[in-house]
Amino acid sequence: MPAIIPQPLQVSTPQGTTALSLDGAVFIAGPSATEQRIALQASALMSADAGVTVPLTEAPEPGAPAIQLRIDAAAGPEGSDHPERYTVDTTVRPAVVSGATPAGLYYGVQTLRQLVTTDTFGAPALEAVVVTDAPRYGWRGLTLDIARNFFPMKQLEIVIDVLASYKFNVLHLHLTDDQGWRIENPSRPELAKLSSDTSNSGKAGGYLTLADFRQLQDYAAERFVTVVPEIDMPGHTNAATAIYGDLRPDGKATDKYEGMEVGFSQLTFDLPTTEPFIRDVLTDMAGITDGDYLHVGGDEALTLGAEEYAKFITLLEDVVADTGKQVIMWQEAAAAPTRPGTIVQYWDTRSDKTPFVEAAKRGSRFIMSPGNHAYLDMKYTAEYPLGQDWAGLIEARTAYDWDPATVIEGVPEDQIHGVEAALWTETLSTQDELFDMLLPRLTATAEVAWTAPERKDWEDYRARVAVAAASWRRDGLAFHQSPQIDW
Ligand code: ACM
Repeated sequence: MPAIIPQPLQVSTPQGTTALSLDGAVFIAGPSATEQRIALQASALMSADAGVTVPLTEAPEPGAPAIQLRIDAAAGPEGSDHPERYTVDTTVRPAVVSGATPAGLYYGVQTLRQLVTTDTFGAPALEAVVVTDAPRYGWRGLTLDIARNFFPMKQLEIVIDVLASYKFNVLHLHLTDDQGWRIENPSRPELAKLSSDTSNSGKAGGYLTLADFRQLQDYAAERFVTVVPEIDMPGHTNAATAIYGDLRPDGKATDKYEGMEVGFSQLTFDLPTTEPFIRDVLTDMAGITDGDYLHVGGDEALTLGAEEYAKFITLLEDVVADTGKQVIMWQEAAAAPTRPGTIVQYWDTRSDKTPFVEAAKRGSRFIMSPGNHAYLDMKYTAEYPLGQDWAGLIEARTAYDWDPATVIEGVPEDQIHGVEAALWTETLSTQDELFDMLLPRLTATAEVAWTAPERKDWEDYRARVAVAAASWRRDGLAFHQSPQIDW
């Protein structure tokens, strides 16, 4: 069986079929601009994976091994109407990759890449299989903190490449926190200009310009990844109060901050400057964001009383609604209470679940990021040099062994919007450190988010991860050599 991550819904290897040689192979594609574009992406990716050029051509030479790419409503498992469904069949000639939508076709290509093997002569070939597949959850994301330490465009693009290869479709960027403001706001340019030279490491400052954010969203969109920006409020706001003294009751700007503590900073509801600040910043973000979502934080506002906190949550819901976007907040907001349309992101498993069950009863949907499984900044082992441990130690198996449907009893499965891994960067400031924490665990989250529970199997996954590492080595991506995996 091929080593596909995440494990597809159905994989079969019919008897008597042989590998498709990639020697002289070509892609052919349907006529639409989207099919042609995805075929060009497939050609570039497959050529790198297989080590031989597999060009896109209009008319293949007779007898040349060909792989046909097309958008086709009939793609995917029998009876599935999931928009991301796809089929890969390398047992027929030409081989076929079909997706019900452009995203489905793109995911078929990602699966095709994982079929690269060598034939009996040692030449590159594709394993002969039929895969029909569709995801369990439509929202499969990574929360990436670029506020504690900033990571530049090139590194963010590599993160997107890796996300896309494991069929993630959301990059949620935590853009603001006590340690820095990492996005240019047209109406408040001083935020990024004056409050981005700080960071947890003391060396990884910086911010995304408007042009960067534009480019990043385009890069992500070509890979079917939606960028969800997070402006964290009303806590985690020291980067703002360090610039605007008038956001403070005493009128004095706070000191800049490069420490590790959380929960000390806040906005103040009753100041006349507060709502205009929130409106300016969120209207800016809505204006520059292609996706339908704005995340507005809501976590760890530990210095606020419940009443003032609740007023903030309602205001944030109102302001985001006024921008036309859909609001997402961290779990604390559920107790405020949140409105039915607010998406709640679950993270701290130590907390009382009652407010989440209540929010679910009101109609909220949930993104599951339980800290003890999905927080990929947790150390692998107690002695691990990187990461934190407050939510537990997370080796590969712990990242793998959980079910989003059972993490909060009382939240019905059909109100689970999806899954996000999270990577907080207090202790991480280089690309190698980032990927050391992401890999292999991100592939575990990929399978949690995509694969039906009855298709998940730790022993089988372990073997597939070892195969996946070949591409990480080739691409120079750091990864943790987990002792749970036979590399
Ligand atoms: C969080 O980890 N404070 C969302």
